[in-house]
Amino acid sequence: MQEPNSARDATRELIRALRTARVRHVRNPRSNPRQACVIASRMLPLGAQLEAAAEVQSWPNYTATPLLNLPGIADAARVGRVWLKDESPRFGLGSFKALGGAYAVGWFAARRMEARTSRNGKNLQTFTCATDGNHGRAVAWGARRLGCRSVVYLHPGVSVGREAALRALGAEIVRVAGTYDDSVREAASAAAANGWILVGDTSDNDQDPSPALVMAGYTVLVEECVDQLKQSARPTHIFIQSGVGGLAAAIIAGVCRRWPAQTPLFVTVEPTLAPCVLRSLDAARRVTVEGQLNTVMAGLACGEVSCLAWPTLEAGVSHALAIDDDIVPLAMRVMFKGVSGDPAVRCGESGVAGIAALLAVAGDEELRGSLGLSADSRVLTINTEGATDPAIFAALVPEASEQS
Ligand SMILES: Cc1ncc(COP(=O)(O)O)c(C=O)c1O
Repeated sequence: MQEPNSARDATRELIRALRTARVRHVRNPRSNPRQACVIASRMLPLGAQLEAAAEVQSWPNYTATPLLNLPGIADAARVGRVWLKDESPRFGLGSFKALGGAYAVGWFAARRMEARTSRNGKNLQTFTCATDGNHGRAVAWGARRLGCRSVVYLHPGVSVGREAALRALGAEIVRVAGTYDDSVREAASAAAANGWILVGDTSDNDQDPSPALVMAGYTVLVEECVDQLKQSARPTHIFIQSGVGGLAAAIIAGVCRRWPAQTPLFVTVEPTLAPCVLRSLDAARRVTVEGQLNTVMAGLACGEVSCLAWPTLEAGVSHALAIDDDIVPLAMRVMFKGVSGDPAVRCGESGVAGIAALLAVAGDEELRGSLGLSADSRVLTINTEGATDPAIFAALVPEASEQS
């Protein structure tokens, strides 16, 4: 069906606004693809990636998420192709995070169950974590599948809608003051004090096994992309939104394993209000971003890069970008409407960050040149979450309520 002219004009207007948006940029002079692949394979060895893929793909409700071809967005972004890996349907939980947290819960439960089983065979383990919303959902879902308890730590920036979704999965909620990084520390202390199993998606030391398990789970999405792109030319760029950098490092590890001879450029995208990867790459060391990190991109509101992910990011990321909050609803609306016949996609506030950055870069010739983006480029990006908080989605995308 032909889009009415007024709707087309409105979408064009949104794209125009996105293309004039400000983007912060740091080029990483230490990026070294070969070295990155060596480091990434130490971080997530082949066996860990294969084990995660075999396990996750054996779950009864597993299906690969769609890889969408978006020629309308490619045109608007002035590149040859854009693919969007749409993680919104993942296990009914709305984000890629389901791959990591639930896999780690299962791994621990299989190995430590004997220690905590009651006489009637009930698993008495308690799993705990901190979350911006999505990781907690994955852990709570993974625990519930196994009949276990979960306790999830939330900082004040996590919305009531996301809290309700966690409770619906059986999680007990503890609200703490401060930022995501503070809630990570609270969850770790509670785990140590109570003998609970901590399933973190980040760490500040090399001792904690859970971030590696979580990240091994994320590599399943690379496996799927490789299969889905079988007949196509490979991407030249991958835009990956980053919180603690676990997803970006896992994708680098997965891509290095599957396409070792031809790795694309990896570009991270963060909120201007929480750019810990960008600042760390700029400073050549992990630096902490202070403050409330009060960004609409709640899943990316992290002030500290994961210790495990950092060496891979330092060698593997070519460019770090940061975008302002005000362009997020513009990009969500563009995606919801669908550009020039592209499928309409429900992208959440953090989920849309990669597409938002790609469109914002399109209007800046110098930045395009620096990133090596041209009409021949093929860009892969990820809708890392769908409408995981329906009330926030409805407030930011008025077209969604008009349609219902
Ligand atoms: C929707 C979404 N996208 C991206 C990320 C970033 O992942 P990471 O923190 O591993 O960098 C998160 C993290 O919670 C998220 O929830």
